[in-house]
Amino acid sequence: MSEMIQSLRGMPDVLAPQAAYRAQLSAKMTAVLHRFGYQPAYLPLLEKTALFKRTIGDATDVVSKEMYTFDDRNGESVTLRPEATAGVVRAMIQNGLLQQNTRLYTEGPMFRYEKPQEGRYRQFTQVSVESFGIAAPAQDAELIQIAYDLFAELGILDAVTLEINTIGMPEERIAFQKALVDYLAAHKDKLDEDSQRRLDMNPLRILDSKDAGTQALLHGAPQLADYLGEESRGHYRTVKQLLDSIGIAYRENPRLVRGLDYYCHTVIEWTTDKLGAQGTICAGGRYDGLVEQLGGKPTPAAGFAFGVERILLLAQQYGAFSEPRADVYILAQSEAEQGMAMRWAGEIRRHFPEFSVITHNAFQKLKTQFKKADQANARYTLVFGSEEAAQNAASVKNMATGGQQTLTLAALLQQLQGEV
Ligand code: HAM
Repeated sequence: MSEMIQSLRGMPDVLAPQAAYRAQLSAKMTAVLHRFGYQPAYLPLLEKTALFKRTIGDATDVVSKEMYTFDDRNGESVTLRPEATAGVVRAMIQNGLLQQNTRLYTEGPMFRYEKPQEGRYRQFTQVSVESFGIAAPAQDAELIQIAYDLFAELGILDAVTLEINTIGMPEERIAFQKALVDYLAAHKDKLDEDSQRRLDMNPLRILDSKDAGTQALLHGAPQLADYLGEESRGHYRTVKQLLDSIGIAYRENPRLVRGLDYYCHTVIEWTTDKLGAQGTICAGGRYDGLVEQLGGKPTPAAGFAFGVERILLLAQQYGAFSEPRADVYILAQSEAEQGMAMRWAGEIRRHFPEFSVITHNAFQKLKTQFKKADQANARYTLVFGSEEAAQNAASVKNMATGGQQTLTLAALLQQLQGEV
């Protein structure tokens, strides 16, 4: 036998039962986004490498270490998207959609060459939610409200914390960054190795270092808040007031800076302590400068992404999903009854479009077929044998009570109707 080919590390298959929960989660997300007026969009997984370099930033971990980049057959450097915002902004500009306010979301796989572990994969899924054209803080609050509504619906609000911060405008950040680098450079030997490297490359990320020595040093460091002007402070104040008015609790985290370069003003992360090291389940913020940076007319924008696998892991702990089950499982004893079985199945599906109706299709012993019906967690089984077929009826068994009746199709439909 030839050697089996395994999947790539960090690229898990999603199969039953997780796949069913994932489909339920996806449907819930879509429903919440629909309620807020967000439209779906479908975008390419592969883009020109330059798109990500220019938006996410050369110095970030994502661009410098984690991208799946290769030359296509024509020698052009292309990259499997590590996130969706860059592609969304490109699409908005390219398709001339910046004339009006646009709210959209896009769901799909992202690719980052990270060290795989529980909750961290090389292919993972985001639902990226983006809004264009609205500079007001109400838009930031709305994005938070969307995530809040989903988490409420999943019953996981108790397990999550909303962390927010403002990182102001680029000029303010540059002034702060200079003061921070001056301070940290004077104590370089006390910084952890990663932070020493970041001092030149990406100094703001030092703020969220997990190293105790670095954190101690940061206590005496300049604070970003002291470098913000009235406009930035005012924007942030209003976001917080709006969250207070809609009853959404938050924790201000002055160290929250995010790992992608395009943000300004409000940044957000929803975290949980129930998933070990990979506790950020959802993150984003405002990115007013990004459209212009990509060659579009200046347009304010904001967004966030749900980390689908992590939310799934958390919501599963809270029993947010129902087990998949067949409403009706249909057994035929021989080929002679199969046409009738399939006709009934079709009628039931037409009457109850939300039902799952399975026909067994293989003519095995009834006992074997019933076992399958059990595995499918069936509510009802229908058996077609020659006797039943002669009466134009089926033997209907309620799997919960064990009760059995011989019913015509009309009588069965009526009985099922009484239950929904
Ligand atoms: P991000 O923080 O890089 O932001 O990713 C958002 C979320 O995706 C994370 O909070 C996490 O839940 C999930 N995630 C990231 N990497 C992995 C991984 N390797 N395995 C599993 N889940 C992961 C962005 O990507 C921004 N584009 C979000 C955004 C949208 N900002 C504005 N609009």
